[in-house]
Amino acid sequence: MISVIFVCLGNICRSPMAELIFKKMTAERGLALSFDITSRGTSDEEEGNGIYPPAKKMLREHGIVGEHTARQLTKREVINADYVLVMDSSNLFDVLRLTGGACSDKVYKLCSFTSRPRDVADPWFTRDFSRAYADICDGCEGFLNYILSAHADMLGYDSRH
Ligand code: 4NP
Repeated sequence: MISVIFVCLGNICRSPMAELIFKKMTAERGLALSFDITSRGTSDEEEGNGIYPPAKKMLREHGIVGEHTARQLTKREVINADYVLVMDSSNLFDVLRLTGGACSDKVYKLCSFTSRPRDVADPWFTRDFSRAYADICDGCEGFLNYILSAHADMLGYDSRH
């Protein structure tokens, strides 16, 4: 089992989108049981709130339905995770501050797994939820391909199938 936590600031837009997109991607490859996937925010501002409606609408338009309740990331959760995937440089700074710099080897920007490393565009400020969705899909695909090659034996995955 590979545990993955997607992290953004509020845990109501980008990281719950990533959580649900990556759950769908892994399920489509028959790998749902190989992953423990969740999402968190670096801030407690939105604690207890559901997915922001425009983000939910964007997911629904792509056939993805699901719920998430915002929660703030803890140091213990970072310690216990295999991968912590943040959306932007500010999230990266906040996670490393939370851990006192420890665990830096498991914290990555999601889009660092793509051919064009970048921050996920923050739709809270851009209001462009389709761009955020595209960035997140690109990052999740890149991350899944990385995992399939790095952990192929453990996952028992044969890409010829
Ligand atoms: P998220 O979006 O980090 O992608 O969930 C945001 C949500 C709330 C705020 C900023 C970004 N906020 O400033 O309240």
